[in-house]
Amino acid sequence: MDTMKFDETVLRKIYKVIGLSNPDGETYKERERKHRQIFDFLRHLEKAVGTLSKHREIVLVDCACGKGYLSFISNYYFSVMQKRKVKFICIDYNAHVIEASRKAAEILGLNNMSFICADIAKVNLEFRPDIVYSLHACDTATDMAIAKGIAEDATYIMTVSCCQHTVRKTMKKHPLGAVTQHGVYRERLGDMLADTMRALILESRGYKVRIFEYVSMTETPKNVMVRAVKTGTSSPRKRSEILKRYSDLESVFNTTPKLDELLETIKDRE
Ligand SMILES: C[S@@+](CC[C@H](N)C(=O)[O-])C[C@H]1O[C@@H](n2cnc3c(N)ncnc32)[C@H](O)[C@@H]1O
Repeated sequence: MDTMKFDETVLRKIYKVIGLSNPDGETYKERERKHRQIFDFLRHLEKAVGTLSKHREIVLVDCACGKGYLSFISNYYFSVMQKRKVKFICIDYNAHVIEASRKAAEILGLNNMSFICADIAKVNLEFRPDIVYSLHACDTATDMAIAKGIAEDATYIMTVSCCQHTVRKTMKKHPLGAVTQHGVYRERLGDMLADTMRALILESRGYKVRIFEYVSMTETPKNVMVRAVKTGTSSPRKRSEILKRYSDLESVFNTTPKLDELLETIKDRE
């Protein structure tokens, strides 16, 4: 997939309406990187949608959607270019971005997108999602996106985190203290730890997980995607190995991602 295959006129109109370009259709310089992040993320959504039935509507949930750039472009790609039946549910607790997105959808005449103004953790979805994703959701909002995906039994969960303040702040008295005394390494280890622990939780819940750079580091240092696909429950032996790895990290670094707590909550509700 490459942007050349898009109808540039339509794409430009979308950019203008959603605010990825100015009213004259010129891309805002500071958003050029965002463009590349969106198109590279879309490649992964495309692969996932490609594995799902063509005979029914596919439900995609964008957690911490902001102005919904990724979802608007993806909607155009799937609905118009690929002629797939898709529905987008976009969630953000910032009323301003949700209002702007609703207006944009109205201007573009899109009736397959809905925008929910709420904390991700508090949303009850009306439809079972096929794909739950988040791009640069702040800190624990990534955990909320993953928890939502697990709770709703999504086939795919894809997250690219932003900051990992909570895990970074709570990592205490661990053997890599000499490394993490340096702020830059503390941040990197926090990123690795948070995503690895999330991945282990996903694996323990029957997802196959890959962690990789989905876009070049030159576009954004926050370029790591956790991509999970539901493959079914793992054997008790495999599951206990995964949980052992998880609790080893937990006890060595004295930290627990918010996801753990959120899933406890979900368990309580069951
Ligand atoms: C850095 S922006 C990313 C927006 C968009 N995904 C993008 O890549 O352009 C992070 C967004 O997460 C939203 N957010 C953070 N925590 C949230 C939560 N718990 N529930 C809903 N939205 C949240 C913020 O309001 C903000 O719009």
